[in-house]
Amino acid sequence: MWVTNLVALVFQVTSASAATSASADNVLSNHATILADNSASLAFSLYQNMAREKNTENILISPVVVASSLGLVALGGKASTVSQVKTILNAAKVKDEQLHSGLAELLTEVSDPKTRNVTWKISNHLYGPSSINFLDDFIKSSKKYYNCDHSKINFSDKKSAVSSINEWAAKSTDSKMPEVTKDVETTDGVIIINAMFFKPHWDEQFHHQLVDNRGFLVSRSYTVSVQMMHRTGLFDFYDDKSNKLSILSMPLAHKKSSVVFIMPYHVEPLERLEKLLTKKQLDIWMGKLQQTAVAVSLPKVSMEVSHNLQKQLGELGLTEAVDKSKADLSRISGRKDFYLSSMFHASAMEWDTDGNEIDASIFGTDKLKNPKLFYADHPFTFLVKDQKTNAILFIGRVVRPKGEKIRDEL
Ligand SMILES: *[C@@H]1O[C@H](CO)[C@@H](O)[C@H](O)[C@H]1NC(C)=O
Ligand SMILES: *[C@@H]1O[C@H](CO)[C@@H](O)[C@H](O)[C@H]1NC(C)=O
Repeated sequence: MWVTNLVALVFQVTSASAATSASADNVLSNHATILADNSASLAFSLYQNMAREKNTENILISPVVVASSLGLVALGGKASTVSQVKTILNAAKVKDEQLHSGLAELLTEVSDPKTRNVTWKISNHLYGPSSINFLDDFIKSSKKYYNCDHSKINFSDKKSAVSSINEWAAKSTDSKMPEVTKDVETTDGVIIINAMFFKPHWDEQFHHQLVDNRGFLVSRSYTVSVQMMHRTGLFDFYDDKSNKLSILSMPLAHKKSSVVFIMPYHVEPLERLEKLLTKKQLDIWMGKLQQTAVAVSLPKVSMEVSHNLQKQLGELGLTEAVDKSKADLSRISGRKDFYLSSMFHASAMEWDTDGNEIDASIFGTDKLKNPKLFYADHPFTFLVKDQKTNAILFIGRVVRPKGEKIRDEL
């Protein structure tokens, strides 16, 4: 699958650079467009790798933010440490300057609160050991392109290192993401941290009063109590009968992006669904969506998930940056002996009723007759997909929402 993506990409790069460059306001440059598409491929690889990890329950990854952290690695790197980043981003032919400006442009576009009307707070921090001296040039350009802050930290004093990392994350997310990590394992590398808070703002809100307690079936034998929100409306929907899956797409404010839910008919481990989940399959599902009356019930929960992506990125081809003996991150400090020892990717997401006013003219008409049911009371996968750039803003799964255990009735 990876090889196929790569081939497709080379074609894209070639045809995109042949096209005339667009520079009007709010039109993405070719480089940003290419990177948007490629970060979508990255989404599936990362998700699949993460899903295979034992003990992983909920998943929450922002591929465009991971792409920008990879850009940061390239900014601090030289030689093949940089070319590996470009290979992962399928951007081998993109020049360094275009890589950085393209990634910056993409992230600015998709996270703009004014045009998007969603809450998406993204903070990035690079921590190095006490012995590091950051180069001015790196400090300036990493701030410019990746809005990244820097600090030295005494990793030998683990307790205070961990607490200053977590304090920074809490502060930068208004306390929504209070803990990025419980431990820092190594004392001689640099750590990149993304701390985020995302709250979808629906194009049409859920009914604030129609929230009640229901059971969420983590598995056949384990149910937790969660709040559920409800609304009926016309949504893009596809009932994949052969795979026994329901696919629902709900627009976020101004319809600039939407949340795509993929859920098995009944409670089951997500492995079966995840085996099907590729960029190509998603495109097939997207092509089959049809406007349908759907009665939607979703958990109204907040989730906080922190992943250390260092190993996953190594598996995707970032083998040098993560290897102490091979990494060349000398643009960070002028020295070659630092490597990427962790990449913490921490997001808090709040599923809530908030959104713009509902268009009430549809109620009482035939259009909402006999709605399909989309009752999300068991594990599902979701993506937040951008309409304009096709970038995947988030990919994740809800397997175990927070909630009190309810004893199952016979
Ligand atoms: C979205 O728009 C609504 C209505 O204009 C506004 O009340 C709300 O604060 C906005 N939310 C964000 C996150 O911009
Ligand atoms: C780092 O922490 C260790 C353990 O607390 C301490 O011994 C050492 O002096 C500290 N180093 C610096 C540079 O502060």
